[in-house]
Amino acid sequence: MRSLLQPRISLREATPEDAAYLAAIHRGAFRHAWTDGDFASFLSQRGVSALIAFHTGRFGSTAPAGFVLFRQAADDSEIITIAVRSAYRRRGVARKLMEEAIRRLYHDRAAALHLEVEAGNAPAVNLYRRLGFAEVGTRPAYYTGDDQARLPALVMRRQLL
Ligand SMILES: CC(C)(COP(=O)(O)OP(=O)(O)OC[C@H]1O[C@@H](n2cnc3c(N)ncnc32)[C@H](O)[C@@H]1OP(=O)(O)O)[C@@H](O)C(=O)NCCC(=O)NCCS
Repeated sequence: MRSLLQPRISLREATPEDAAYLAAIHRGAFRHAWTDGDFASFLSQRGVSALIAFHTGRFGSTAPAGFVLFRQAADDSEIITIAVRSAYRRRGVARKLMEEAIRRLYHDRAAALHLEVEAGNAPAVNLYRRLGFAEVGTRPAYYTGDDQARLPALVMRRQLL
């Protein structure tokens, strides 16, 4: 029997019409929210894709649970951002999104996948390590914290091909 803690999650590719969903999830997850327009603009760029995870409830209703936004340019690729709504966290949603993004990038012959993550963001750093990413550099004072403190980023990389 399916565990009650395991949400039923399905993924689909986002279109520019999904920009409001992505912005709402992003707003709940980051200090500096990106707008609907930011996401619509990303999704109209060449090489940029997003996957949205939807949760299906017991009576068939669906709700957006998270998304990943990524970009491929020739044989290189990057995760632009990923976020999961707090109600759905720690249930494998981000892992599922990342694995599908990696599967698609591999299929499209991306040789490597890069990302930047705030060094103190333990959930995200753990997620990426578990998915086989290694730290390849740091960027001091890359992010701005709540109190305007400058926070370092880790640059992480995973070989795909
Ligand atoms: C980071 C984030 C996307 C993870 O989403 P999630 O769906 O909860 O992650 P998953 O359930 O798929 O977890 C996969 C692995 O990530 C790590 N992880 C996730 N949440 C964690 C936490 N709170 N503490 C420690 N490790 C964590 C674990 O290794 C976990 O594997 P495990 O559950 O088998 O131990 C989510 O916490 C989030 O949206 N955070 C805010 C936005 C953000 O920081 N995005 C990353 C920007 S670079």
